[in-house]
Amino acid sequence: MSAEIISGTAIAKEIREELKYRVLEMRSDGAVPGLATVLVGANPASQLYVGMKNKAAKEIGIHSRQIDLPQDVPEEELLGIVEGLNADPEIHGILVQLPLPDHIDEDRVLLAIDPAKDVDGFHPRNVGALSIGRRDVMTPCTPTGVIEMLMRTGNAPRGKHAVIVGRSNIVGKPMAALLLRKGEDGDATVSIAHSRTPDMGAITRQADILIVAVGIAGLVTADMVKPGAVVIDVGINRVDAPDTERGYRVVGDVDFEGVKEVASAITPVPGGVGPMTIALLLKNTVDSAGRLAPDRNRGAM
Ligand code: GUN
Repeated sequence: MSAEIISGTAIAKEIREELKYRVLEMRSDGAVPGLATVLVGANPASQLYVGMKNKAAKEIGIHSRQIDLPQDVPEEELLGIVEGLNADPEIHGILVQLPLPDHIDEDRVLLAIDPAKDVDGFHPRNVGALSIGRRDVMTPCTPTGVIEMLMRTGNAPRGKHAVIVGRSNIVGKPMAALLLRKGEDGDATVSIAHSRTPDMGAITRQADILIVAVGIAGLVTADMVKPGAVVIDVGINRVDAPDTERGYRVVGDVDFEGVKEVASAITPVPGGVGPMTIALLLKNTVDSAGRLAPDRNRGAM
């Protein structure tokens, strides 16, 4: 039997609708949530992502400001801009799009962002707070979006064996920390497999929930999935497709056609985790605005 297809597009729309009402309420109290995105250079994928983030923010009434900097911007200048945004009362969320050019120390930039405005959840203080299970913390958008998808489709992780493929700071590691938190949306038994795991299939076949975030098209095939597992594909890969107008197709890390015949539920690419990342960025921004102007935080989720 073919798996249920989990539509991130539909769930993200639901979340954006919920946020739109919260923003309306905040605006009627004279508070406008503000998001600043900083893009260094002209990486086409980063340009596309940052453009989508700003557009989505504007659509729900968030004030959004995009700062475009040249590829060769000095590190000190970028740090100065971040400092300015930290002090700006109109801005409640700061996102510096990664990756940054090689001459810039990424860790130094992330450390410069005020943790209270760190809507990516990448500041070491927020990373640390998440790793000790705190809930009053901004958490990274993509893995938090995965948790929302699981919860909103009746696939709560509590008591399940969740296997994550990938150990990145943006997805794999925070995904594990979220799944380990106490509560219905956590309480999972967590394993992490990665590029140095010798027999990947032996690990992935144990998963009740399999989350794949490595950036290798079609890495996970049907024989690596336990029948009835829930499969979440975080990968976004371009593969050549000469028969199409664009010359390429976007696919995930999971062989969708094969795995959907084994899994009980699966996310597509595109239209799966991608839209959730943006929805959670908006939620982090609205939450942050609520915290930074607490008397105006009516209707918080
Ligand atoms: N680059 C790829 N994903 C992300 C993300 O979630 N946030 C930022 N800032 N950069 C990214």
